[in-house]
Parts: sequence; C-alpha cells; structure tokens
Amino acid sequence: MSEAGNSVAGDGGADDGGAAGPVDRAVQWRAFASRYALLPLRLFLGLTFVYAALDKLSDAHYLAGAGDPASFVSQTQAAKGGSPISFLLGTALHAPTLFALAVAFGELAVGLGTLLGLWGRVAALGGALINLSLWLSISWSVSPYYLGNDLGYLMAWTPLLLAGTPYLSVDGYLAQRAGRDRGRGLHEDRVKRRALVDGGIAAVAIGGAGLLTGSLTRTFGRDEQAAPKQSAAPVSTTPAPAGPAPSVAAASVPVGGSAQVKDPATGDAVYIVQPKAGQYCGLSSVCTHSGCAVDAPKNGQLYCPCHGSRFDAATGAVVNGPAVKPLPKYAVTRDGDKLNLGPLQS
Ligand code: FES
Repeated sequence: MSEAGNSVAGDGGADDGGAAGPVDRAVQWRAFASRYALLPLRLFLGLTFVYAALDKLSDAHYLAGAGDPASFVSQTQAAKGGSPISFLLGTALHAPTLFALAVAFGELAVGLGTLLGLWGRVAALGGALINLSLWLSISWSVSPYYLGNDLGYLMAWTPLLLAGTPYLSVDGYLAQRAGRDRGRGLHEDRVKRRALVDGGIAAVAIGGAGLLTGSLTRTFGRDEQAAPKQSAAPVSTTPAPAGPAPSVAAASVPVGGSAQVKDPATGDAVYIVQPKAGQYCGLSSVCTHSGCAVDAPKNGQLYCPCHGSRFDAATGAVVNGPAVKPLPKYAVTRDGDKLNLGPLQS
C-alpha cells in the first residue's frame, strides 16, 4: 500500500533551501493533519464492520430460527411492523438465512475494503447502505432518535464516501502507479484498464480471504445453544442488605401497571409489577443487552429504547432481542396495603 499525491514537505515548501522555520513547520503540520484526517474514522469503521461480521457469523443465535428472540428472523419480524421498509423486510423473511449471511458477509467485505483502502468509495457506499437499512428497520423505533446508533454510523460513512481512501491504501498505490504510467506515455485507456484489472484482482483476493475467514468463523464459532450469551449489563447477585425492604403502596400497582423502587444492594431501579390479579414480582430495569434502562411495562412488555429488545412483563423473559437473557426477577410480598421488594430470584 502506498500514498498518492505530493509529499508533505513539498506542500510546506521546506525543501526550498535551509531549515524549516516555525511557520513552515506549522504549515507542514496542518497539511499532514489534513491529509490523514479521515484515517482514524476509516480504521474505526473498518475494524468495527469486520468485528460485527465475525461476531454475527460466530454467534449461534444469529442464524437460529424464529424460536430464538436474538435470531435474525425474530429481530426482522419485530422490526417489520413499524418500519418504512417493511416490504423489503418481508422479502428478507422469505429467505432469512440467505439475507442474514448476505448482511454478515457484506459487513465483512465493507470492513476489509475500508481497512485496506480498496475501492474505498464503493466500500463506504456499501457501509452506508447497510447502516441505512438497519436504521430504517432495527433502529427505527428507537426514541429519541439519537439513541439509535445506526443513524450515527450512516453519517460517519459520508466523509469516506466523499473523499474515498487515497492515502495508505491500495487505491493510493494504484493511483500512484497510474500516474507513473501516464508519465511513461501510456495511452489513457490502457492506464485505466490496468488499474481496473489490478483493483479487481485485489478485490477477488481480499474477498476470497474474507469468505474463508467468515466461513471458518461460522464453522468454529461460539456454541451458545445451551449457554445463553453473557449479559453486558452488570447484574448483581448480592443479596439485599438487612434493613427495611423497599416498599410501595399496593394501590399504586394496578393489574398490568407498575411502580418503581430501588434495589438497595445495587441502586438499580426495579419495577414492581402485577401481571395478574394478586400476582406480584419485581423486574430489574437494567437491560441485559448493554445495560440501558428499559421503559416501564406497557401492554404486557418492557421495551428497551437503545436497541429495541422487549421483555415479558410477567416473567422478564426476552420477547425480542438483541438481548438473549431475561431481566433479573425479584420476589415481592404483600404486607397489608404494602408491597415489599424481596430478594433477587434469578
Ligand atoms: Fe441494547 Fe437494551 S441495551 S436492547
């Protein structure tokens, strides 16, 4: 890989004779910073897409059927209802395995193309389209909108889409060589054809390596059928300290409603719920996906605004992923007209 364009020293004029003064050095530094301004973003997006692809391909939940709330099918079905691209999601549900693999391998191709700077604008367009479709489906119901990260990723692709990947990249190398070919008097058609053919060969080689890596990851991926994915949320199993248990008035928890107390051991909010008349329990408000606070129960479910997980308001079980672990559940006892929060049960 190489760089295209003029040298930084040339930009600053330091080669004009004598040592560079402070003004020259400032000019050189500004030129250097401008040249590589997009490199951190490119590395971040490239690595994130490669990681996301391998994470999907190695996750036993991803290609599981509709019975697994964290599967591609379940998440697509859940997103379809309120999505403006529900017709596309309906098409994806006709061949879910094919679409799930296309998303994962598409992310891998975008990540590798971005990291190596091969056809950088094409890779950025692919990344933008993937994040656009995720924003219009999985993140569409996230409120407020800025909590859904797919919109942020979509915006992050824009500078790379506009600028491409001309430095420290395969594109840069090909552009530099094309410049040399022109200098040797090669016809413009031949210069372009050579760049296209070599870019294609590099794409096939990198695509093949990506396909092999993805397939191996899929084959030797994590086996989590029996053991559910570990929660990122810090869920305490410490028993509550001795002392008066947190309580609420029973009248404040109607059937289907809830009242909030704090777990004295962790300080986390807990919803005391009454799913059926006379049946009470407590459900942690900490989402087991990545630790966001879930909304209060509504229509029999608790909804997480960060990535759209839904939990059953009677049991805490996952109704829709990406969470795979139920909300921690507490015992609740009735004492006259009071409901007392008991110990953590699960
Ligand atoms: Fe991701 Fe709740 S934190 S769905």
